[in-house]
Amino acid sequence: MTKKVILTILISLFVLSLALSANAIHKIIPSETTIPEPGADAEKLNEYLIIHNPYRAWSLWPEKGRLYKGTEPHGALLTTFVNDTAMHSIKKKKGMADGSIIVKENYTADRKFTSLSVMYKIKGYNPEGGDWFWAKYSPDGKAEASGKVKGCIDCHSKMKNNDFIFTGKVK
Ligand code: HEC
Repeated sequence: MTKKVILTILISLFVLSLALSANAIHKIIPSETTIPEPGADAEKLNEYLIIHNPYRAWSLWPEKGRLYKGTEPHGALLTTFVNDTAMHSIKKKKGMADGSIIVKENYTADRKFTSLSVMYKIKGYNPEGGDWFWAKYSPDGKAEASGKVKGCIDCHSKMKNNDFIFTGKVK
């Protein structure tokens, strides 16, 4: 074999290995890398969370188990899920990256599921409110409030220095 042929084979193998590893990465983190984001639309967001990228398969907020103790107004017991983007941001502590989604299940003290609270960061959506899209769903998936919800923003503004988040330090 000539040197040229050997070189061509080596280059082909290299390109093939790159393609295989890219494919492997997609298999490991399929969520935000392959599914289009829902955008600022409560119904599309709900569909995304239930069907396209089911939040119940996500990680729990670090160091919070299921049904941990919550406060008013959310619920006596809470379970909080974060998508991959949010998880990376929580670990890096430089604020939450665009595309971060936090989904919190709210329960009564006797473990009755009452509602779902969601914060979803959309680039440029609401700069003065940390670019968060807020949503609250009833157990049957109906959006009870969504968008730039004043009630949510007013209270969460206490945590403006922590990207509007109460549950843990993200900055
Ligand atoms: C009166 C204050 C208050 C209001 C109003 C409020 N929240 Fe919260 N929120 C909290 C507190 C406090 C926590 C931390 C968990 C806990 O202790 O209940 C929290 C936690 C959260 C979390 C988990 C991430 C984080 O910030 O820690 C989400 C998501 C959330 N709230 C969404 C909402 C949405 C959506 C609304 C409006 C429909 C809303 N919240 C209204 C006080 C509030």
